[in-house]
Amino acid sequence: MTVHELDTALSQATQYLHAARRVCVLTGAGVSAESGVPTFRASDGLWEGHRIEDVASPEGWYRNPALVWQFYNARRQNVAQVRPNPGHYALAAMERRWGPNFTLVTQNVDGLHLAAGNRNVLEIHGSLRHTRCLQCAAVEDRGLEPLGDAPKCPRCQGRLRPHIVWFGEALDETIWQRAVDAASACDVLLVVGTSAVVYPAASLIPAAKRHRSIPATVIEVNLTPTEASDWADVGLYGPSGVILPQLVQRLEASRFSS
Ligand code: OAD
Repeated sequence: MTVHELDTALSQATQYLHAARRVCVLTGAGVSAESGVPTFRASDGLWEGHRIEDVASPEGWYRNPALVWQFYNARRQNVAQVRPNPGHYALAAMERRWGPNFTLVTQNVDGLHLAAGNRNVLEIHGSLRHTRCLQCAAVEDRGLEPLGDAPKCPRCQGRLRPHIVWFGEALDETIWQRAVDAASACDVLLVVGTSAVVYPAASLIPAAKRHRSIPATVIEVNLTPTEASDWADVGLYGPSGVILPQLVQRLEASRFSS
């Protein structure tokens, strides 16, 4: 994308957002890349040196729960050391503008949107901070301290697992329904830093187009075009930590120009 093309696309995106009453955002790993959190789909098919099915599936868990905990403890430690980047802060500024009419749906489990100040956040794939007891089902926020290879529930001593949605598992129905409602009711859906290949998360994009008499405008922010691009009315191709602050800056300026 040339500087001129990006400038034109930023102007279009600003106009759509300026007119929008309700905004929904879908984020993926790319929004946290500039904070130093690795994205998932590296070309070698490995996830931080592990096969995805070994560390992020129920089968992997039953085969070797200690390995799964080692992997998640490492991710928890990594996330404890990173900070939100300007892209996260720009999305927090957007929530301040739209208030309750702004919903942020994230596939990320790193908690960086909450750390940046967003409040209306739906973590549809769970959170690295949360554990779930396999015996009493209690979900608890355990922060980001390492928990060891076989952590036990402080209430009932049952075995704990990460409260993360793994491949082949269903999403929390209540949270998912809220995400569908937000995507179906928005005027603009901003799709940031996701390859849009994991379902049902990616189905929020067609949902925004389908469920209203006036389909939502889809704005994509990514380094490159993705599976979401066919749905996108505007594509902003560059790092989200650079693009999103520019978008917010233009929105602030457009407040005073109309
Ligand atoms: P992916 O790793 O599949 O995609 C990351 C996307 O971010 C790619 O499209 C990159 O081009 C883009 N990207 C990278 N750096 C960027 C930057 N600085 N600015 C903007 N975009 C950038 O990650 P997700 O789409 O989030 O699921 O993956 C979805 C789900 O698959 C994850 O939630 C996880 C994974 O398996 C579970 O854990 C259940």
